[in-house]
Amino acid sequence: MRTPFLLMDEDMVVSRYQEFTEVFKEAQVFYSLKANPDGNIISLLNRLGLGFEVSSEGELDLFIERGIPPQRIISSNPVKSPSFIQRAKEYGMDRFAFDSEEELSKLSSLAPRSRVYVRLEVDNTGSEWPLTRKFGTPPERASLLLRRAREKELIPYGITFHVGSQCVNILAFRKAILKAREVLGEFKGQGPFMLNLGGGFPITYRDPVPSISQIAREIKDLIPEGVELAVEPGRALVGEAGIMVASVLGSRIKDGERWLYLDVGVFNGLLESIGGIRYPLFSSKEGERGKWIVAGPSCDSMDTIGEAELPFLEVGDKVHIGSAGAYTISYASHFNGFPPPKVYLRKGPIKGNLDLE
Ligand SMILES: Cc1ncc(COP(=O)(O)O)c(C=O)c1O
Repeated sequence: MRTPFLLMDEDMVVSRYQEFTEVFKEAQVFYSLKANPDGNIISLLNRLGLGFEVSSEGELDLFIERGIPPQRIISSNPVKSPSFIQRAKEYGMDRFAFDSEEELSKLSSLAPRSRVYVRLEVDNTGSEWPLTRKFGTPPERASLLLRRAREKELIPYGITFHVGSQCVNILAFRKAILKAREVLGEFKGQGPFMLNLGGGFPITYRDPVPSISQIAREIKDLIPEGVELAVEPGRALVGEAGIMVASVLGSRIKDGERWLYLDVGVFNGLLESIGGIRYPLFSSKEGERGKWIVAGPSCDSMDTIGEAELPFLEVGDKVHIGSAGAYTISYASHFNGFPPPKVYLRKGPIKGNLDLE
């Protein structure tokens, strides 16, 4: 098979979903599509009965093509394009996030009588990929906006937040829920109300992280009764299920350092490596190992993935990049003519599939 490609382990995606449903018993799980929008993954999750979180017309089309009912789709993007809101409403969606008066006005004219939920500004300390600067509003303002929603003939329906992606700090989840509770008090009992814990659940790259069950256990005491609990993971559902298979394009020593060049890099799949994500790299080749600086195929110096302990490799040898199922193909561009990896969803142990050439 031509590299680079991304092998996705179907069984692991299923077991991650089961883990969410087991530890968050009452919660509805919405898969945040931006993590990996591969069509076969959407179909798999649809068969399992998951909900979906969508942000754009491009993503919505993928659901419409597959006939996924609008009642199972929400949009947690706080600032949406007018044409997306319109199409989502036409399709039958009626749950939308917002965090400003301006977005409320848009929603009230383009999707009247929809249910709206407000995005809180929360601490993103301890997340590898913070998401807070751009979005969110403090609790007092959130309450005010929900009241304003009612005046605009929208239905105040809930609260959401995002502690930042790959968040290893359980305290951040706890603090966010405490903030949400400040708003909840006023609206509980006035109709169905959602508490959406967002995404942020971490996965293992090179270092251990808290498990989903550990997080669930440690926040359980703060979840108020009587709310519609929701989670919208992306990374934690698909990340560890993916192995990127790449080929060596070359190697050299430069200024005393060993450089290894692969056919996948920052611009065609591993963008998160420049934001702090440290992918584990493997080779099945025996022999003396050493420290390598691993880079992608393009002519750009930014296209450097990081350091790894690997054996001496020849042109054409394979390197396997672990935990590569999330935010890889969705970020990949065609920069410099290097194509994004193809995705193959496989059933059965992925290790056995790695010998596929
Ligand atoms: C609104 C929203 N929900 C959920 C997610 C999924 O987050 P994660 O992949 O960290 O679980 C994201 C990621 O950016 C997001 O923006």
